Amino acid sequence: AFPKQVRLVEVGPRDGLQNEPEPISTATKLELIDRLGASGIRHIEAASFVSPKWVPQMADHREVMTSLTRRPGVVYSALTPNLKGLEAALECGVEEVAVFGAASEAFSQKNINCSIAESLQRFEPVLERAKQANVRVRGYVSCVLGCPYEGEIDPAKVAEVSKALYQMGCYEVSLGDTIGTGTPLKAKRMIEAVSRDIPMDKLAAHFHDTYGQALANLYAVLEEGISVVDSSVAGLGGCPYAKGASGNVASEDVVYLLDGLEIETGIDLDKLAGTGTWITQAIGRPNRSKVGVALATK
Ligand code: HMG
Ligand code: MG
Repeated sequence: AFPKQVRLVEVGPRDGLQNEPEPISTATKLELIDRLGASGIRHIEAASFVSPKWVPQMADHREVMTSLTRRPGVVYSALTPNLKGLEAALECGVEEVAVFGAASEAFSQKNINCSIAESLQRFEPVLERAKQANVRVRGYVSCVLGCPYEGEIDPAKVAEVSKALYQMGCYEVSLGDTIGTGTPLKAKRMIEAVSRDIPMDKLAAHFHDTYGQALANLYAVLEEGISVVDSSVAGLGGCPYAKGASGNVASEDVVYLLDGLEIETGIDLDKLAGTGTWITQAIGRPNRSKVGVALATK
């Protein structure tokens, strides 16, 4: 059955911008984060404490995390692949971080330069340290519906990595269709496999829209009971270590779908769409939200 409410995790400032080749000013990032908060989004992934050599666009993570205007009730989170990243994030006063692994060995190597098993070992001290500091940790699994290097991924592998993250203490596991190759039936089967080990309300759907299937896939997993959805305003984004991967499903499109399903989000669609129009103009990108474009031309 469909959930009554859905929490949107807005990943635009991180997933949406991380792959932009031209430097985007910290001020623009801060304004984006602020506008997203003003539209009613309660969870914003604001930065990424990764190596600036690997992802130059996220090099201003400290400034972003320390300068953003905190709105009451809004969680501002950041990616931290290792202890080094976590320590830096803690210095900036983060309240939530995320570790990111994969269900594909080849992708794990390309993205974080280690095997799946090594990544899980690396995450353990991150979770321990975060717990000490009272910081919640989210866990990502990439390539849950296909890998750019290995092709098909077995749902059992997705379930195994997800379970490891959950047992380690991640409060939620976000399932990434990194390259958007999933289709609704596959998405449903994957969720069925993962939810045998992890309660449905501890899972999130993180779907990229490369093949135009993200909304359909979301509909399928919402019907299974998924109630946390990651999305990116204006459909911004792409992963630097997944060639050809396009942005996340657009937040505006997700909110429009959920409004139609009478599922509460607490988000003001017009304000959100205005944010999508503004950021795409600010960074010179097309608006990949159909709803955003429709509302802007109404
Ligand atoms: P490594 O080279 O194996 O790490 O990289 P290392 O420990 O050997 O360190 C090498 C250098 O990086 C050193 O600097 C470290 O200080 C530095 P040097 O001595 O050469 O000057 N370093 C760091 N600097 C800043 N922050 C850190 C950090 N750690 C080490 N935290 C590492 C390992 C994970 C750091 C690297 O592979 C990396 O940064 N990868 C980035 C991957 C990434 O950001 N990918 C995109 C995000 S994931 C994603 O988009 C998928 C998702 O959206 C879900 C989905 O869609 O599927 C989440
Ligand atoms: Mg992603």
